[in-house]
Amino acid sequence: MACYLCFSKPVLLFSALVLWAFSTLLEAQDPSQLSSDYYLKTCPIAEQIVRKQMEYAVQADPRNAAAILRLHFHDCFVQGCDGSVLLDDTVTLIGEKKAEQNVKSLKGFDIVDKIKTNLEAGCPGIVTCADLLAIAARDAVVLLGGPYWDVPVGRKDSKTASLDQANTDIPTPQQGLVTIISKFLAKGLSATDMVALAGAHTIGVSRCASFRDRIYGDFELTAKDEASSLPYLSKLKEDCPLDGGDDNVSPMDHFTPNLFDNAFFETLLKGTGLLNSDQEMYSSLVGFETSSLVEKYWADPVAFFNQFSDSMVKMGNITNPEGGEVRKNCRFVNT
Ligand code: HEM
Ligand SMILES: *[C@@H]1O[C@H](CO)[C@@H](O)[C@H](O)[C@H]1NC(C)=O
Repeated sequence: MACYLCFSKPVLLFSALVLWAFSTLLEAQDPSQLSSDYYLKTCPIAEQIVRKQMEYAVQADPRNAAAILRLHFHDCFVQGCDGSVLLDDTVTLIGEKKAEQNVKSLKGFDIVDKIKTNLEAGCPGIVTCADLLAIAARDAVVLLGGPYWDVPVGRKDSKTASLDQANTDIPTPQQGLVTIISKFLAKGLSATDMVALAGAHTIGVSRCASFRDRIYGDFELTAKDEASSLPYLSKLKEDCPLDGGDDNVSPMDHFTPNLFDNAFFETLLKGTGLLNSDQEMYSSLVGFETSSLVEKYWADPVAFFNQFSDSMVKMGNITNPEGGEVRKNCRFVNT
């Protein structure tokens, strides 16, 4: 006798499978989790738009790549990667732009505006400023010869900023190794992440105000080969006098300032790191772990590139639990 409404064993098994697949699909769409295909359906050209604008910007001036990369770092260290660093001061909101490590120092806001304008033209109201920065930072690295990595996206833009957190959580060049490592640990990043990420200083420049203490301080003490380091030191002193010239800039990797390579680590091995905080990774008495990483990333550029990529994804994964919105203009919260 036929039993049309009876479920056979295979049918039951099949429905169980469907249920399981459905539940894992729901899991994969957890809004707090970033993914590489977040804009696949809503804005498939997002990455192309960012890339094109970054090409223009970096072609005009390679320093722009450094500026964007640093913006992403300073964004992620305050409330998570939520575009808070991009907010302007208004009557109702105190931004982070006047924080000690940001004021007169952060650049690239105009580039962000331009990318955002193009994103809004292509897919209005879809791509967040926080994701824009994460993608643009990756492109910045690639455009100067550094590694490529897939950028997980799906961040939200904050409706607030924190000047206080920007002042306390962003490391300063005067701080010692232990303090800086603990600031990274507080963000869920290890000492290994810290050394690799500081390798970002292989591009970009520092203002005299950030390295004056170092060149009139223990530079000569750490520098190993006098014949090559003394001429470099006198050039630095020329550009950065004891008095004045605070905003004069010098590259942190004076070998290849516009190339994302591992030459920054060579400056540390030679004892000629420009920032005190960078040199400490190699020369500090408590830096046994970090100094061997510096040696490793100098000896093995592939190891540096791989760790840098992994650590960038990890840093980019610091989220703001408050959630947020898709800002229309990166400088202002939506009204
Ligand atoms: C480890 C702790 C760090 C300290 C103490 C530090 C400190 C600094 C300082 C003092 C400057 C020069 C700013 C100025 O004088 O105007 C600078 C520039 C820069 N930093 Fe860091 N930084 C750190 C980590 C990072 C990380 C993790 C990244 C990115 C992944 C990064 C990317 C950059 C870039 C690209 C520049 C050059 C910016 C430009 O040329 O406009 N830094 N950093
Ligand atoms: C990103 O963060 C989530 C939790 O918010 C975690 O499950 C995931 O493993 C993290 N991914 C990386 C690459 O750190």
